[in-house]
Amino acid sequence: MKNYDNVTIFNHPLIKHKIAILRNEKTSMKEFRELIEEITTLMTFECLREGVPTVECQVTTPLETCTQEMVKDNAIVIVPILRAGLGMVNGIHVLFPSARVGHIGLCRNEETLEPMEYYCKLPDGIEDKLVLVVDPMLATGGSACDAIGQLKKRGCKDIKFMAVIGAPEGVQKVAESHPDVPIYVSTLDRCLNENGYILPGLGDAGDRLFGTK
Ligand code: PRP
Ligand code: URA
Repeated sequence: MKNYDNVTIFNHPLIKHKIAILRNEKTSMKEFRELIEEITTLMTFECLREGVPTVECQVTTPLETCTQEMVKDNAIVIVPILRAGLGMVNGIHVLFPSARVGHIGLCRNEETLEPMEYYCKLPDGIEDKLVLVVDPMLATGGSACDAIGQLKKRGCKDIKFMAVIGAPEGVQKVAESHPDVPIYVSTLDRCLNENGYILPGLGDAGDRLFGTK
């Protein structure tokens, strides 16, 4: 795949280790859910290295008073793409317990692979926040592009997208359609199969998170 300025692929040994367990078809639903959360926390740490709104504050230590930096209150909104994106929310809430959550419900048509919207509820004032759009799987890129497009229509200007596993086809589509949106993918897989599933992938993330199959 071509290099894109707005794409970061982590390839971190700790994340790779967790992803190896995540992929395994024998991994239980409970462990799968925990791993998605842990990987999300590790990714968020890196993804928010830059661009997080902060404020200065005065802190008095036992020795003196100093100026410190803290993350601005109510600065971040998490937007999971339903269903599977829900599995990543707690992984960010561990770091930002007060982050508000907007929901975008999209379901891929199994034949056309086009996303169909069935739900959208976003917090008031989202247009002025840093919006973290999350979905474990970036396959054709249709769902991610649709969600980012909806947020831009709503006036959001500061959007980052995080996926646990990406296919080159999807990463390329989102990177080119939204060059202003930083994209973070922990691992880049080989390709999509004829049904639009990522190879080697991990199967259907929603089914594995919620036990629907
Ligand atoms: C999966 C996944 C993504 C989407 C990725 O959701 O969670 O949202 O597919 O595919 P794309 O990049 O080709 O759009 P799905 O539509 O299966 O819905 P679900 O989360 O409810 O299972
Ligand atoms: N959605 C999934 O859950 N898995 C894939 O491999 C592709 C789309």
